[in-house]
Amino acid sequence: MEITLVRGDITEQAVDAIVNAANSSLLGGGGVDGAIHRRGGPQILEECRVLRASRYGGGLPTGQAVATTAGRLPARWVIHTVGPVYARKEDRSSLLASCYTESLKVADELGAATVAFPAVSTGVYGWPMDDGARIALSAVRGASTRVAEARFVLFDATAYAVFDEALTRLT
Ligand code: AR6
Repeated sequence: MEITLVRGDITEQAVDAIVNAANSSLLGGGGVDGAIHRRGGPQILEECRVLRASRYGGGLPTGQAVATTAGRLPARWVIHTVGPVYARKEDRSSLLASCYTESLKVADELGAATVAFPAVSTGVYGWPMDDGARIALSAVRGASTRVAEARFVLFDATAYAVFDEALTRLT
């Protein structure tokens, strides 16, 4: 699998699937989640409501992933995952890694060959970017998947530089 880095807005990516840094309610929020629902239109939220009423009455658990279509976005699907809130006194890194590996499993089920990821948990959920980048890249690199390209979409120059450095260390 090819791992690529781009600076930009994940909602603009013309890939098969984009990953949403959601919360367990699946009913929207700020950051990536807000941008996806704003630009993708009401169809995505409607499908999220159906998921809540059927499979995820108690919400989508942290570290898991589930797909909807992508409404008006250029991508075909949105894979919603719930990152862990960062905690200095508790190691939640396996849950963060799980967001990436579970999203790739869902991508395989969909037949998605190209998948764009945000830096899950590094915004509202407070995860330090360098640690979040290291966990993200090693989880994706270590995954067994048919996805051909995993594209990390970094919102600003600092996040891009941190991922670039982490990718250099990985290879
Ligand atoms: N494209 C790419 N990256 C973005 C974009 C964008 N359009 N917007 C923000 N980022 P966050 P989290 C970056 O807060 O930390 C929501 O309210 C951002 O700079 O979106 O997992 C949910 O509903 C940061 O580096 O996700 C949850 O309640 C990264 O994406 C909660 O926030 C992730 O920031 C999830 O928090």
